[in-house]
Amino acid sequence: MAHIFAHRGSAGTHPENTMVSFMEAERVQADGIELDVQLAKDGVVVVIHDETVNRTTDGTGWVGQMTYRQLRKLNANYEFKQYGFCPIPSLQEVLEWVQGNSLLINIELKNNLVPYERLEEKTIELVERYRLASRVIFSSFNHESMATCRTLAPHIETALLYMEKLHQPWNYAHTLRALALHPYHPTVDRSFVEAAHANDLLVRPFTINKEERMKTMFQYKVNGIFTDFPEKAKHIREKTLR
Ligand code: G3P
Ligand code: MG
Repeated sequence: MAHIFAHRGSAGTHPENTMVSFMEAERVQADGIELDVQLAKDGVVVVIHDETVNRTTDGTGWVGQMTYRQLRKLNANYEFKQYGFCPIPSLQEVLEWVQGNSLLINIELKNNLVPYERLEEKTIELVERYRLASRVIFSSFNHESMATCRTLAPHIETALLYMEKLHQPWNYAHTLRALALHPYHPTVDRSFVEAAHANDLLVRPFTINKEERMKTMFQYKVNGIFTDFPEKAKHIREKTLR
């Protein structure tokens, strides 16, 4: 059965990459959460999507040029005012919280545009500290970073994120010892899923918010989907599998 990952938490109804958004994913019984990590100036692993705070908070500037203390003062709730002030979480805060539930955690390393020194080491250290390796999937558009993660922590699953229609990406994925492909969903059709499975790779397309497309993905037997609307996805999955 395809796992439903709440993308940036339940970002369709709650402020993305914040604790309330992750808690909503737990409430609706998503199988997992997806979150994006970067490094603050003082080396704290923080949960935020963009390389700057401009879009998602009331501040301005580069994530990597601000300390965690500075970042923490910002309100990461720009859209859903009913939730009030929502700080940027640290990865540590999220991992402490997931110890109280059984959610899977897809940690996307956002180091494709800004290279963060030792983001991989710091992220792995936190996952190990909270003994979450078996519930964690690392992913990134930065495939060098995925190779590094696999070398540093061979027991933690890695997945390759990509946007394009690639030719037989399983061959490439095997060279990086990745266990999963996380493709942009328009590149995915039934034969692709079948070929990936035949080549021992899991497929989890992103980001699927339309009911019809969710249904199609479940019919293709993908291993997971990322969605901003995990509650809706759960209903569709139930109906599709009936
Ligand atoms: O990990 C799936 C998805 O989050 C990748 O794209 O830009 O939403 O981080 P993005
Ligand atoms: Mg992401």
